[in-house]
Amino acid sequence: MRDRDRGTPPQAPHGAGSASDRAAALIDLARHPLDRLDSAEGQAFIARCRRTFQDSGVCLLKGFLLPEALQKMTAEAASVAPEAFYCHKQHTAFLGPADESLPADHPGRHLEDTYVGSVASDLLPPEGPLVTLYRWPALLEFLAGVIGLPRLYHFADPLGAVSVNVFQAGGQHGWHFDEASFSVTLMLQTAETGGLYEYCPGLRQGDVEDTEALAKVLAGGRQGVITMDFQPGDFLVFAGRDALHRVTTVAGERLRLVPVLSFSDRPDDSNSPEVRELFWGRSEPRGATA
Ligand SMILES: [Fe+2]
Repeated sequence: MRDRDRGTPPQAPHGAGSASDRAAALIDLARHPLDRLDSAEGQAFIARCRRTFQDSGVCLLKGFLLPEALQKMTAEAASVAPEAFYCHKQHTAFLGPADESLPADHPGRHLEDTYVGSVASDLLPPEGPLVTLYRWPALLEFLAGVIGLPRLYHFADPLGAVSVNVFQAGGQHGWHFDEASFSVTLMLQTAETGGLYEYCPGLRQGDVEDTEALAKVLAGGRQGVITMDFQPGDFLVFAGRDALHRVTTVAGERLRLVPVLSFSDRPDDSNSPEVRELFWGRSEPRGATA
């Protein structure tokens, strides 16, 4: 992280300067000082985000993207959205199949529907704003601080490093706990109706779930359910392994566009070929020979 540019003017025109300059120019640096993380202000910002994330499992940075950056990133995502691969599946809250040996009202037998498209990394312009932001070393350093790791690494997955989730009418992501301890997403465009990010903390401690409370939420109960105020331009770090969460069903013409930025605590980490097949319908990047 020592090569990071410092003191980049936030008003640097897009397309000018180094990749770090172009990344910094996407962000509202007055509110989110990612360009000066070593300063007292930057360190206090990381500490504040870290505390919030530790206490609530949520670090939501409102108005993270500047309006012009939001516009450009949304246009970029919308232009590749027709190339999304759609995955339609049923799963339990634990992301597996139903266990028929369990009692009928057990959460391990309850199936949720997921219908979501994803545009793989290799379909995104490498010099575009989304990849530029993802590759910004300052973002990596900031996220390591928020999550509480000595350092983070970019995901080495040629399809899943940075992808764009596309929800069209009927799209949804049923209630589940993530396998990864944290996820990083951006809201670019909300749906006309639905597509709400809902979560329910406190149903899982370590690997142990409150089965009774979980069954109630899966049956439609609203106790403890929170709707995230996730609006265009917002940046979200979410501890999805510990909190049940979902995206409600989308209706209307407008696509819900949510980039997913993937990181790991170890270098050269990647999805398995099976997971790539599931999310992007292929395991190899475009143009790769089998
Ligand atoms: Fe999730």
